[in-house]
Amino acid sequence: MKQDLIAILDVGSEENSRLARAIRALGVYSEIYPHDIKKEELFGQQNLRGIIVNGGPNNVLNGKPVAVKDFVYDSDVPVLVIDHKTKKHPTDVKKLPSSDAKLAAVLKDFLFKTCKAEKNWNMDNFIADQVEAIRAQVGKKKVLLALSGGVDSSVVAALLLKAIGDQLHTVHVNHGLMRKNESESVLKVFRDQYKANVVYVDATDRYLDKLAGVSNPEKKRKIIGKEFIDIFAEEAKKLKGIEFLAQGTIYPDIVESGTKTGKAVKAHHNVGGLPKDLQFELVEPLKYLFKDEVRACGKALGLPDSMVYRQPFPGPGLGVRCLGAITRERLAMVRESDAILRDEFEKAGLNGKVWQYFTIVPDMTSVGVRNNGRVEEYPVIIRAVNTVDAMTATVEPPHWKVLKKITDRILAEVPGVNRVLYDMSPKPVATIEWE
Ligand code: XMP
Repeated sequence: MKQDLIAILDVGSEENSRLARAIRALGVYSEIYPHDIKKEELFGQQNLRGIIVNGGPNNVLNGKPVAVKDFVYDSDVPVLVIDHKTKKHPTDVKKLPSSDAKLAAVLKDFLFKTCKAEKNWNMDNFIADQVEAIRAQVGKKKVLLALSGGVDSSVVAALLLKAIGDQLHTVHVNHGLMRKNESESVLKVFRDQYKANVVYVDATDRYLDKLAGVSNPEKKRKIIGKEFIDIFAEEAKKLKGIEFLAQGTIYPDIVESGTKTGKAVKAHHNVGGLPKDLQFELVEPLKYLFKDEVRACGKALGLPDSMVYRQPFPGPGLGVRCLGAITRERLAMVRESDAILRDEFEKAGLNGKVWQYFTIVPDMTSVGVRNNGRVEEYPVIIRAVNTVDAMTATVEPPHWKVLKKITDRILAEVPGVNRVLYDMSPKPVATIEWE
């Protein structure tokens, strides 16, 4: 790491991530460490320019107050203490300012005047560092990656291709629950444009056979998850001589804000449950990036916007939006209506403005008329929501003209659908997905 570093020591704050992001936004790299980090680890960090002891409401562990060791204060590296009184150090700033502008002002002073840090955190430097680190870790060996086409796995793929080219082997499993043309676009970008090694497995029949008649949402999720592991393991065994597994782990996966030992949380999570004889050393080049930085990294690596700014999409795919026992017929209704919704939102300039939007098809019918006859057909429900962190969400106010167009198209173009509804429920009480 050639970049200057500000270490945040988590002494029970709920705002470690906010602080790290604010520092990075000023162009200086920052990482979060547990309060009890070892002296050698902390001062072994290259280019450590400053330390922030970040206290907060969770500074009690097993009934005892948490504190950093004295060595933290005993070096030449400047220390800023927030909301945490110690004998050695009077409190500098009582609380993290709640206004982002005020926080930036406090940090600017500390970073540039006190620590004399350089503004050298940017994506080009990050990519250059990671390319070097990946090459050093992997050497001439082969690396395997499950390429779902989501933002994180796509950015990992692009980064690894830059670092090690055809030593990377990717596997894309189409579980038959992808959105329209999604697998095709993964292949187009990575196989055709990047000339990457992509093993493409069309497992649609295998999944849909296993899922036939299963209506319990948890069972559906379990089957989808287990099938993925089985298929991935089969393909991994066919590709001989692989020693590394790349994963799109990102910083929020390993940092839990407000914990005493942020860094220790979920430090090792593999592609959950690969068999014992298939264990790899992990390559996780994005594990210090926040989501917006992952996107910036993808942009800098030249990935298309459609991939970099892709909406969140559940691992079990359209399977959670085709309610009850999945049938091919209703799955097609979800997929086609979703494609129409996305097409019309894009044309109306709503793409990128609305956080997430999709359609749902429940497993109940209602009566309608078609060609002068009575028909029993399915409804399509449209869901469009906005959120910051997916923990709570508000409903996008209905765009009547756009919705009218979408309704007309769904009713005309999607066989078996006789009604279109708009879900007006915020989260909570509703969740974003229906399941
Ligand atoms: P809920 O339905 O819990 O969804 O309000 C919150 C967000 O998470 C997404 N989601 C998933 N993402 N794997 C994922 O990667 C999943 O199994 C999954 N389930 C829900 C959902 O789309 C929403 O953005």
